[in-house]
Amino acid sequence: MKIGFLGAGKMAEAILSSILDNGLCEPWEITACDKSPERRELMEKQYEVIPSDDPAATVKESEVVVIAVKPQDLAELCKTVKPVLTANHLVVSIAAGKTLKAVKQVAGTKPRFIRVMPNLALMAGEGMSVYTADRKATEADRKIVCDIFGGAGAVLNLSEKHFDAVTALSGSGPAYFAYMLKAMADGGVALGLPPDAARLMAEQTMIGTGIYLQNSGRDLDEFIKAVCSPKGTTEAGMKVLGKSPFAKTVAKTLAATAARSAELAK
Ligand SMILES: NC(=O)c1ccc[n+]([C@@H]2O[C@H](COP(=O)([O-])OP(=O)(O)OC[C@H]3O[C@@H](n4cnc5c(N)ncnc54)[C@H](OP(=O)(O)O)[C@@H]3O)[C@@H](O)[C@H]2O)c1
Repeated sequence: MKIGFLGAGKMAEAILSSILDNGLCEPWEITACDKSPERRELMEKQYEVIPSDDPAATVKESEVVVIAVKPQDLAELCKTVKPVLTANHLVVSIAAGKTLKAVKQVAGTKPRFIRVMPNLALMAGEGMSVYTADRKATEADRKIVCDIFGGAGAVLNLSEKHFDAVTALSGSGPAYFAYMLKAMADGGVALGLPPDAARLMAEQTMIGTGIYLQNSGRDLDEFIKAVCSPKGTTEAGMKVLGKSPFAKTVAKTLAATAARSAELAK
């Protein structure tokens, strides 16, 4: 399967390195097209994929085209690739906030389209990618997307109406979890822990709790209650956290993110 990346930045790198790690394609089947000579050199040297500075030539060479430029660069990019996109292409767009309708407006309606909202945790092979497929996309196209993104984390199919919420929760989520992580580590330092130790303890506690809760499927309220033994240490902390506006602030944070995503889609 020949895959062309239009834009070979951070996200494209995470996706293509997972494709190679999982043996979905050989390096010679992947073309990484980027404006920047540094990115092209890195792609060639580190991943041995074919570098290109020509988006139209990249599309002509590929069966699957991954649009991985910033949303504001989409229209400009599509001016050059629209004339060479055909019904034989599957176009996978990861441009945040760009609806399938918006992508088709600039890329034309000949190819099959799938929109994916991944997140930066792809870089750790633990991404969360949500996709929505256009009407013309086939089962085989959906499988390609599940294979590509499923190789670096979880994949979910949702209706496009949920994409602003998806952007808020899993798309932008890594920044919000990092913020919580920083608050936890800073709190540990304030109690006298060395900064490196505090960061490791916060990270490992976040990772371990996430893995345990996902694997066990335990009810979250029941889990919190179970950790808070009566008159114990966690209970003393939860009395403070539970009374704080923390949950409301998180909800407001996600609402502001979703609103901005909707604004960008216009
Ligand atoms: N980062 C995230 O957490 C995240 C999460 C979900 C979705 N996304 C989406 O993923 C996409 C890529 O994000 P990113 O963080 O990987 O961005 P990035 O690191 O800036 O990569 C985009 C690359 O595309 C290049 N480019 C721009 N216009 C081009 C053109 N016409 N032809 C060839 N290359 C071109 C850019 O070069 P220059 O820098 O020289 O312009 C840059 O190297 C975005 O649409 C974003 O919304 C990102």
